[in-house]
Amino acid sequence: MTKENTKSLDYQKRANDIFMPLYPHKSVALDHADGSYVYDMEGNKYLDCAVGIAVCSLGHNHPAFMKGITEQLDKGFTMSVGSFATKPKVKAAELLLNNCSAEKIFFTNSGAEAVDGSLKLARAWAHENKGEDCKEFIVFRNSFHGRTYGAVSATEKSLHQPQFAPYLPGFHFAEFNNLDSVKELITDKICAVIVEPVQGEGGLTAGTKEFFQGLQKLCNDNKILLISDEIQAGMGRMGTLFAHSHFGYEPDIITLAKGLGGGFPVGAFMSKSYISDVFKAGDHGSTYAGNPLATNVVYHVVSEIVKPEFLARVKEAGAYFIKKLNALHNETGNAITSIKGEGLMIGVDTKFEIKTILNELLKNGMVATQAGKNTLRLTPPLNISDAEIDEAVEKLGTVLKDESKLTEYTS
Ligand SMILES: Cc1ncc(COP(=O)(O)O)c(C=O)c1O
Repeated sequence: MTKENTKSLDYQKRANDIFMPLYPHKSVALDHADGSYVYDMEGNKYLDCAVGIAVCSLGHNHPAFMKGITEQLDKGFTMSVGSFATKPKVKAAELLLNNCSAEKIFFTNSGAEAVDGSLKLARAWAHENKGEDCKEFIVFRNSFHGRTYGAVSATEKSLHQPQFAPYLPGFHFAEFNNLDSVKELITDKICAVIVEPVQGEGGLTAGTKEFFQGLQKLCNDNKILLISDEIQAGMGRMGTLFAHSHFGYEPDIITLAKGLGGGFPVGAFMSKSYISDVFKAGDHGSTYAGNPLATNVVYHVVSEIVKPEFLARVKEAGAYFIKKLNALHNETGNAITSIKGEGLMIGVDTKFEIKTILNELLKNGMVATQAGKNTLRLTPPLNISDAEIDEAVEKLGTVLKDESKLTEYTS
């Protein structure tokens, strides 16, 4: 850090005074962003390996993202969103559906809303096709699906936060990557399984291809819907537009958000018609969802991500990042204990307290986030360059090599 951060500290204090204590604010207050970097109020520059946790898929202010916004600026933002077709809504929906096997879509404002919608759809489908007692779900340990009551009931945290109970009933927790634990939970009451391709908040654990393909077969054999929550892992982050394609399975329902809008709040859930046709008008809805501004951004951002050369570069960048981290692992002895994840959704476990690493990274001009109990999460822009990857690994190396500033992790 080069300049005195008095402005940042003033804003940090004011923010901590007035916001609910859910996100303690850092000593750096942000002013603007550009490409792979964010800038604080003092003008210091930080390499952004978080991008809002896998949100700004094209980096900050990418021309495609900006086109999505500016094209719509003088055309209206809302226009009775649900009941009227608009060009952006239809074009964004067609683009997504033309690139997967789903046939129907509903846009939402956030990831948790997409998850809630998908849970309602699964229950409605089972009610009509399997009987009114079939309304329970299989979910996974270390899962994360969001913070609304439906989404959080499917999330590991619901098991540890009794202060918010009662949660929705009927969620059964299996072990991720363990098909036998899923088999043990299958009964006639299970309508769907909801799974993340890579557990993000849970600590960057990728599912194996065998697990997902076995899970799909189990679901097919038992007439259970498979919901793929691709809110963090989808939209190019695996080097394929949809995360399930990377792992070789075919979900019945897909949830999207985060990278879908490249920084604009928007989500979606999608399915085959035979599932979504159980919905009748009025069964579900949302005031703002599918608005022309959000969907115009989706259209332009996804049009960029879906280009074969863009997706090939994500694969290449992910492999390069892992190669550089492995080299750092060798260089720093036992500081790094494991490197996890898939594509550009990378986790680094170290022997140090993650909070101290994140603070030191910030002082060295880099933003990253925590996942799981003590994992460093790297979710950079999908168009990060090799030079920027070198910079990220170099900064992490600088932090790991100065052990005097770090605290050892004790679980
Ligand atoms: C896999 C997954 N599902 C759902 C969500 C919830 O999304 P949102 O925060 O937009 O509600 C997240 C957010 O981190 C997520 O990673």
